[in-house]
Amino acid sequence: MATIFSGIKPTGVVTLGNYLGAMKQFVDLQDDNNAYYCIVDLHSITVQLDRVELMNNTRKLAALYLASGLDPEKATIFVQSEVKAHAQLGWMLTCIAGMGELGRMTQYKDKSQGSENVGAGLFVYPTLMASDILLYNTELVPVGDDQKQHIELTRDLAERFNKRYYETFTIPEPLIQKEGARIMSLTNPVKKMSKSDTNAKGYISMLDEPNVIRKKIKSAVTDSSGVISFDRENKPGISNLLEIYSLSTGTPIDDLVKQYENSNYGTFKQDVAEAVVALLEPIQARYHELIDSPELDEILDAGRAKAEAVANKNLAKIEKAMGLSRKRAKVKK
Ligand code: TYM
Repeated sequence: MATIFSGIKPTGVVTLGNYLGAMKQFVDLQDDNNAYYCIVDLHSITVQLDRVELMNNTRKLAALYLASGLDPEKATIFVQSEVKAHAQLGWMLTCIAGMGELGRMTQYKDKSQGSENVGAGLFVYPTLMASDILLYNTELVPVGDDQKQHIELTRDLAERFNKRYYETFTIPEPLIQKEGARIMSLTNPVKKMSKSDTNAKGYISMLDEPNVIRKKIKSAVTDSSGVISFDRENKPGISNLLEIYSLSTGTPIDDLVKQYENSNYGTFKQDVAEAVVALLEPIQARYHELIDSPELDEILDAGRAKAEAVANKNLAKIEKAMGLSRKRAKVKK
């Protein structure tokens, strides 16, 4: 049994990439572990967001967590801003992080590019993420490929803290799947599928209507060879669709390649679309039952209480390690 922590930002829509890269793993891992799944709204405010939109997104993401199969009896599901220790430890870790290492984060570089007025929150984003993870003595962090660098920084900060003060933090490991770690854009398959894509045809939202999903997959960019085979480098579009198909149905990619040996892109795309529709339809039905239900609030209230109890206990230890206390010190004057 391991302690697991992960989170998703309630910024914009939740994509099929978020589901296949992260949420699906969350569900698989909740059974035999001590899992915390967070809606990381404090990370969402690192970019300017309409307040009503943020509130709705937070609720929507919570409903999608549950609709996807997260079970509050097994995992602790909560909203980051409701457990104040996250921000507190975030500040403490900001104080041990260096400008250089934060400036090297690719997510920061990508998001700040071309912007004249970059928010300071975007710069210190990874120290808050480190706080989320370290606050629970997390051992494993299930994420997509793009978060690997942030987890490496988290490990560095934890090691630095343990050395500078005393052994306080568990050093976490990322858990990145072989398949699904990087679902690509449907319009540009060498780019990650992203909720911040300005072209909605590039991503599938978990709440897209079946016909929208069919249209988006039908118009997905492929190549002109007409052969259905897996080759990320030379056939990124078809490989991405194979990966989506495989993860949506549980059929290994090799079996799919054999199955479609004598087929064509049109038929293949139609079948991929039906597989994604079949995957998302029951999740969407459950989502609609949950979104305005009092049950959702009860689950998040209970999640907050459970997370808060652990977070506050651990924060007290971390504060003590750092010297944030007015107790008379015994060792050094
Ligand atoms: P976020 O909200 O951008 O994405 C949530 C999760 O979805 C994964 N993901 C993908 N996986 C595969 N293919 C894609 N196209 C794709 N797009 C997104 C991400 O890798 C991620 O696992 N910084 C985090 C949120 C966070 C967090 C944490 C994560 C805050 N604190 C603590 C883990 C632990 C983020 O921006 O994720």
